[in-house]
Amino acid sequence: MATLEEEIQKRRTFAIISHPDAGKTTLTEKLLLFGGAIHVAGAVKSNKIKKTATSDWMEIEKQRGISVATSVMGFNYGDYKINILDTPGHQDFAEDTYRTLTAVDSVIIVVDVAKGVEQQTRKLMEVCRMRKTPVMIFVNKLDREGRDPFDILDELESELKISVRPLSWPINIGAHFKGVYNIYEHSLDLFTPNKQQVTERVEIDDINDPAIDKGVGETDAAKLRDDLELIDGVYPEFDKAEYLKGEVAPVFFGSALNTFGVKELLDCFVQIAPSPRPITAVEREVKPEEPGFTGFVFKIHANMDPNHRSCIAFVKICSGKFERNVNYKQIRTGKTMRFAAPTAFMAQKKSVVDEAFPGDIVGIPDTGNFKIGDTLTSGEELHFKGLPSFSPEMFKYIENTDPMKTKQLNKGIEQLMDEGVAQLFVNQFNGRKLIGTVGQLQFEVIQYRLLNEYGAQCRWEPLNLYKACWIESDDAAALDAFKKRKHQFMALDREGRDVFLADSGYVLSMAQQDFPKIKFHFTSEF
Ligand code: G4P
Repeated sequence: MATLEEEIQKRRTFAIISHPDAGKTTLTEKLLLFGGAIHVAGAVKSNKIKKTATSDWMEIEKQRGISVATSVMGFNYGDYKINILDTPGHQDFAEDTYRTLTAVDSVIIVVDVAKGVEQQTRKLMEVCRMRKTPVMIFVNKLDREGRDPFDILDELESELKISVRPLSWPINIGAHFKGVYNIYEHSLDLFTPNKQQVTERVEIDDINDPAIDKGVGETDAAKLRDDLELIDGVYPEFDKAEYLKGEVAPVFFGSALNTFGVKELLDCFVQIAPSPRPITAVEREVKPEEPGFTGFVFKIHANMDPNHRSCIAFVKICSGKFERNVNYKQIRTGKTMRFAAPTAFMAQKKSVVDEAFPGDIVGIPDTGNFKIGDTLTSGEELHFKGLPSFSPEMFKYIENTDPMKTKQLNKGIEQLMDEGVAQLFVNQFNGRKLIGTVGQLQFEVIQYRLLNEYGAQCRWEPLNLYKACWIESDDAAALDAFKKRKHQFMALDREGRDVFLADSGYVLSMAQQDFPKIKFHFTSEF
């Protein structure tokens, strides 16, 4: 039987992130094909969510329900156990994605060769940078006309603010795309467009091997040699330690749809990507190989069926071994809990598991015992550092429209906030409750769920705000002065922390200028 250490070493837990349509779903699917977890392309549908019109959010929720099954996709590849954590494609669920990023040990970013770095990718990369998550990049759709690969590399560096190092290199692009040279392993793959099969590899000794000229023609072979010389001149040799520190991102080129360049990515990924890493709790650093079990809830997925108000809490195992029917402590509530039916997600199937190891995710059926960010341990008082909330960008006052149901409304709001659907603030000037989200959809989701799950009715009153940011200061008098001056725009979050509601970008920058002793934070983790 494998030791705990061996179980940890073979695990790779990561997320694929991209701007919608860059090819995340397609790449995920191809990785699952390699792992034998699925047998035909077209089996992964979860990300089709984004294709639905924004207004049709019921449909989106239905699909989100389906996507529980694909929230975590575990499969074996060679000696490795791989866990891919799915992230919603729709940008209104960006907050879900941010939280998922706290549960992964590394990330693969997919970029469309024609479109380059797009807005959502930039935002997600900021989260990775903040957490120093190791990042690999897959430049996709080389079978279509796109940009010059050197231009793409420059853009990746400047837009994503990370050094890059190509580890594979394309030979032409679009209609003339002939293949990819694997810099990491010094081999050549020729492009044979085929949606279902893995392509053949041309064995070569080195870059001067005449087999290259035979495979791609003399002109392209000469260009490839020139390109590689330039790459070696411009980019320092790939350094795994720098990658693990999140300072350099290896870049691969290919076409997910054609299963091209994907195996190169996967083979390199399992070799260099980190196994579960130590995680910092408030009290101390927790190492995965410690015998005591620890884990935290990074996502709660509600069942939309009003007759069964139940959720699945997704727990990331951080250390030790998780076992079914063993007592664990829920640190926030102090309750001892045991789980009779924890589920794991292997090869697209959800099944009850007896044990799980660091890097694994287990789903725990829940009826309101968990809140996002909750810590579970074998008994030690530990608190994993909160999952950051980001300054919301859309705000509405929430109004009760059925005074008989005030209790239900309040309970519903509290529970939905525990699930992380949106953020609740209380305006200190007028005492009114306001909800902040990253997208319009959340308001509709909240209203619907309050009615269907809690029997409470609410109405939204629009509120024109630019941003809510957390404020603090070492100087109590300065903080007080600020709060007095801005008393109409001060609110408290659910933890009772001060939040400034800026109604425009101008007001915010003036406040920052006029009150140099106040620190303004744009995420809740500071
Ligand atoms: P996403 O999850 O990042 O949003 O992207 P997804 O994989 O759904 O891919 C978006 C579109 O890009 C899909 O086409 C997909 O087939 C296509 N695509 C993915 N990889 C490649 C590639 O390497 N080359 C080319 N040419 N296209 C690629 P669609 O027509 O929008 O959807 P579908 O009907 O084909 O599923």
